[in-house]
Amino acid sequence: MDHYVVFGHPIGHSKSPLIHRLFAEQTGQTLDYQAALAPLDRFTAFAKHFFESGLGANVTVPFKEEAYRMADLLTERGRRAGAVNTLARQADGSLLGDNTDGAGLVRDLKVNHGVALKDKRILLLGAGGAVRGALEPLLTEEPHVLVVANRTVEKAQQLAQEFADLGPILPAGYDWLEEPVDIIINATSASLSGDLPPIPPILVQRGETFCYDMMYAQEPTAFCRWAVQHHAGQAVDGLGMLVEQAAEAFYLWRGVRPDSAPVLAELRRLMAEG
Ligand code: ATR
Repeated sequence: MDHYVVFGHPIGHSKSPLIHRLFAEQTGQTLDYQAALAPLDRFTAFAKHFFESGLGANVTVPFKEEAYRMADLLTERGRRAGAVNTLARQADGSLLGDNTDGAGLVRDLKVNHGVALKDKRILLLGAGGAVRGALEPLLTEEPHVLVVANRTVEKAQQLAQEFADLGPILPAGYDWLEEPVDIIINATSASLSGDLPPIPPILVQRGETFCYDMMYAQEPTAFCRWAVQHHAGQAVDGLGMLVEQAAEAFYLWRGVRPDSAPVLAELRRLMAEG
């Protein structure tokens, strides 16, 4: 049996085992995928032990930077992200590190929601790990401009400097934002506590601006509620990004791209049931 795992801490509520089980069924692949609670102080040893027989791992909070450091080689997007959410054991036993989060975001936007990114004014809220993973895939889509706004402006400035060679990226503080944009992506961890970054409503062009929250929950997130309240064109949560980053990982491991739509529909159905 080919063994796969998702490492995290906590990990109990992870949807990854279900998603990968559904992908495996759908594509006729035989594999085993489990969730593993990795010890906070011994991630690398724990993961190495798994890879004595295991083939691939997803990595979630708080181990993505450690996974980046333990990878023997990195994809370009993994290197740029400085964090790894997917590890794949190669034929020679070495570990390839990849970051599929940003690609999952772009695919959810473009394929599932039909949002074009080329020549668009995109605003990213936040400057933490979630944003870092999204920058390379978003800039590859050639937006008109990608503005990174953060409470701590210095972090946005640092990211803008680091990714400037990939396209038009500008740092901002929230109170610098004065014009409507086409797409707003919330990548702050504020939603976790039901909070909102201090985003001015002027950013939303009535009936037009597409608002995307990387977070998801059974109830609409604070950011999605804000978007609806200010008459955004659409307000969408990040469940699709979760399924798409998993599909990218599955593809890396198995060389087969699963159809994400029925899996996303099943997750929505289960979440609605509670
Ligand atoms: P992640 O890996 O999820 O991106 P992170 O690296 O801890 O998590 O980054 C969290 C991001 O959310 C940061 O950009 C943080 O802003 P600061 O850099 O200024 O701390 C942002 N954030 C968290 N809570 C916020 C809040 N209530 N308002 C605005 N921004 C918030």
